[in-house]
Amino acid sequence: MKTDSSVATGVHKAALPLSENKHLLKWVEKMAELTSPAAIHWVDGSQEEHDELCAQMVKNGTFIKLNEELWPGCYYARSDASDVARVEDRTFICSLSKDNAGPTNNWENPFEMRKKLKAIFSGAMRGRTMYVLPFSMGPIGSSMSQIGVQLTDSPYVVVSMRIMARIGLPVYQEIDKGEKRVVPCMHSLGAPLAPGQKDVPWPCNREKYIVHFPETREIWSYGSGYGGNALLGKKCFALRIASNIARDEGWMAEHMLILGIEDPSGEKTYVAGAFPSACGKTNFSMLIPPEAFARWRIWTVGDDIAWIKPDQNGRLRAINPEAGFFGVAPGTSIKTNPNAMATLSRNTIFTNVALTAERGVWWEGMTEEPPAECLDWQGKRWTPQIAKETGATAAHPNARFTAPISQCPSVDPGWEDPHGVPISAIIFGGRRATTMPLVYQAFNWSAGVYMGATMGSEMTAAAVGTIGKIRRDPMAMLPFCGYHMGDYFRHWIQMQRSLTETPRIFHVNWFRRDSQGRFLWPGFSENMRVLKWIVDRARGRALGKETPIGWMPRYEDIEWKGLDFPEEKYLELQAIDRNTWCGEVIGHEELFINLHNHLPPEMIYERELLICRL
Ligand code: OXD
Ligand code: MN
Repeated sequence: MKTDSSVATGVHKAALPLSENKHLLKWVEKMAELTSPAAIHWVDGSQEEHDELCAQMVKNGTFIKLNEELWPGCYYARSDASDVARVEDRTFICSLSKDNAGPTNNWENPFEMRKKLKAIFSGAMRGRTMYVLPFSMGPIGSSMSQIGVQLTDSPYVVVSMRIMARIGLPVYQEIDKGEKRVVPCMHSLGAPLAPGQKDVPWPCNREKYIVHFPETREIWSYGSGYGGNALLGKKCFALRIASNIARDEGWMAEHMLILGIEDPSGEKTYVAGAFPSACGKTNFSMLIPPEAFARWRIWTVGDDIAWIKPDQNGRLRAINPEAGFFGVAPGTSIKTNPNAMATLSRNTIFTNVALTAERGVWWEGMTEEPPAECLDWQGKRWTPQIAKETGATAAHPNARFTAPISQCPSVDPGWEDPHGVPISAIIFGGRRATTMPLVYQAFNWSAGVYMGATMGSEMTAAAVGTIGKIRRDPMAMLPFCGYHMGDYFRHWIQMQRSLTETPRIFHVNWFRRDSQGRFLWPGFSENMRVLKWIVDRARGRALGKETPIGWMPRYEDIEWKGLDFPEEKYLELQAIDRNTWCGEVIGHEELFINLHNHLPPEMIYERELLICRL
């Protein structure tokens, strides 16, 4: 096996192991034997290494360096047209028993799957470099953090993971202490190169496998270089594997944003929020309050994943295991999310957005005026006229920016606190044109678990599927819960037993429409008004009205200063139509019926109570 730099200079330092951990060394050797890479590169995480990898990707066409004056430190990538989103139908939970994976996950016998993986990974890295990429999910050294090592043949993954997680030398040091279990994450693009074969800008394989072995805490991903399929710290580790670890250890790995609300007196309240993919979670986590809330601030801890644990005093505390945002670009603008725009203005990787003539980026919704001409996410000429005639978008709807959280103007000073931040409320939400009011509060924890368990949302472009259809997405974890969903609900119910203080649980819907199909709620910064009520409820100082589904703010319980929002419109927004709600409860059954032999009794009782109240 060669090194990955000039042989003439001797052994390149990247080829030398950077860890002394015997298990790691042995595993790397074994995986190299299986995948036959041309070289091994131990990632140190340095700026120098990052610059070299980017230069190499510019050279082979994976990256285009953006205009340094406009977009300092930024790179642009176009994926293969077949590799643009998470592939849920190719995602597997290979627990020993099928029953442990449950009906919401794809399952295959782990022994059969291992045979299959062995076959497809055999020689899969031929002609490429295998990167040994150690990463920490959560601040290095925090007792709430977890460690993984990803072996990958994608330099795009290495530079992306450098933004999304803590990587490199300090992580080897953690591994060498031998105190924490290391999750092995195997990744190949599945595109070996024959001698002399020219590479393509975005190598991948039409056949994809995203496989999790929960008992042995292993991840194997094959065939994709995109997002959650390939940046294995994110959905695969921080949700699917971590949800298993969390259940066993009595904590929670959730698909949730974390934000802090600071009022004019300096009082800070943290909340966590679960929303299905592409429902505006990133925007919400970076909200800028409207003018009337001049001395209020929203602080961002995370936009996608929360690891939540009871502390010694029985209070839930949360860390964001990630260090970057992998945000949906289309729709992000100075108007909709100025903090995200500031965050992504430098040191960002853009994937599948459009490339402008001045080597900048553009996507639908970024500016009111589109560029007169640009290259679309597939490198084809795009003009507003072409869009009008063909419907082609310049950016793919799931185009992403990968940007460091530390660059976010609203980043919370405590975002890297190894003990996490205290959580006072949990917010569930979805994209619902009808039925769901703007906001209501669950009567108690088990009613809140029912509320989260029955969440639904219209499907978006973040996953391959039918756009617009409502799918039940419990706690926004449907594609991410690494075990039986019924057991997951039970784990939620049981968590309360280790708490002395129970966070209040709320449901919000920014997307309700009137009979003409127009949004009833302005959303974005105005969501602050809802947040204020949530904080006041969580702190026991706001009133609510009892309704069949939970507590609701009356018109006068919301702060309306600076917004002309008539009471009739508010009543329409908050209306609970009993007939529609009966249909909604039948919709809950769709999910529950499949889970019934693992469903905790609380879910049945809560449903019955809801029916009675309706
Ligand atoms: C994401 C998702 O990418 O949820 O965060 O799909
Ligand atoms: Mn997500």
